[in-house]
Amino acid sequence: MGWKERSLARYKRQWKQHTEDGQPCYILGIESSCDETSVAVVKNGHTILSNVISSQAEIHKQFGGVVPEVASRRHVERVTYVMELALQKANVTLDQLSAIAVTYGPGLVGALLVGVAAAKSLAYAHDLPLIAVHHIAGHIYSNFLESDIRPPVLALIVSGGHTEIVKMPDLYTYECLGRTRDDAVGEAFDKVARTLGLEYPGGPVIDRLAAEGNPDAVPLPRAWIAEDSFDFSFSGLKSAVINVLHNARQRGETIATTDLAASFQAAVLDVLVEKTVMAVKKTGIRQVVVAGGVAANRGLRNQLTQRAQQEGFHVYFPPLSLCTDNAAMIAGAAYPLYCRNMFADLSLNAVASVKLGE
Ligand code: KG4
Ligand code: ZN
Repeated sequence: MGWKERSLARYKRQWKQHTEDGQPCYILGIESSCDETSVAVVKNGHTILSNVISSQAEIHKQFGGVVPEVASRRHVERVTYVMELALQKANVTLDQLSAIAVTYGPGLVGALLVGVAAAKSLAYAHDLPLIAVHHIAGHIYSNFLESDIRPPVLALIVSGGHTEIVKMPDLYTYECLGRTRDDAVGEAFDKVARTLGLEYPGGPVIDRLAAEGNPDAVPLPRAWIAEDSFDFSFSGLKSAVINVLHNARQRGETIATTDLAASFQAAVLDVLVEKTVMAVKKTGIRQVVVAGGVAANRGLRNQLTQRAQQEGFHVYFPPLSLCTDNAAMIAGAAYPLYCRNMFADLSLNAVASVKLGE
């Protein structure tokens, strides 16, 4: 019997125990799509037993952004240790696991490959089913961990690589209403921060400075694209900030960094919040979950919560610890796939670019 048959036989046995005898389902998740090596164990798609995150941010800071080759090498160095720690913290043995889940894309291909190779080896060696998780499905699922929120929801995805509004009628269907046509929102934060001479990653720094500045100090454009469009565009805004800075420097004037940060953030938030409200009105879905690194932004949290109260819908943000990349969201997002017997095989490969739901 080959690995596939053995892992499916094991799945069938465990599925029966899980559904008939109430035995827990333990999924080990691996995330390595960018600069965090993370491994987690999640019980029944709900309870986080461990979520170990080894961040490389300090290493990439000196280069002002993530260096892909450095990221891959660091993942190789960390992944085994992080995995052992995650199992130890969860107090779960390899034998007790129900499946291995891994982010297969999108992300940096070399970085993804490390996680995929680790997951395949573990699945093969222990006859465990393998589950391929889309990184953004993971980010969305961070809202469903340790919570009772369930679809139908609208998801506002705001990460370093993605900006989109997705309709999720159930846990398996993703319908994209609109997405960015150029830069992702986190990318815009990072690029503007770099222009302002701030450290990487720029999002949290701009968030902090914006709280001290005047959002009306510098007039900046808002890209609405078209009245009924759910698409976004942030590259024009980024260029506008760069122009404002250059012009001021040429005239020998200075603009307070806090004011520029506040004005930039206000321009981003106005569009994100209004398009989300539009999507609620259009779909009639009155639950919004926010996902991705920029979900940590305090301005976004305040402004969207306030608008939701005015418009009478609910908005949910993951806890700060689950906003940026982590493996608990991957292990969680794997549970609905586990329940539907949706497994990958050992030919699974890393994919740098893949749309949600494809
Ligand atoms: O979701 P994530 O960890 O990575 C991707 O999957 O892309 O998001 C990282 C992004 C970075 O661009 C970072 O600057 C941004 O999230 N970010 C923030 C904040 N915290 C992280 N942006 C704005 N405000 C924050 N507080
Ligand atoms: Zn991410």
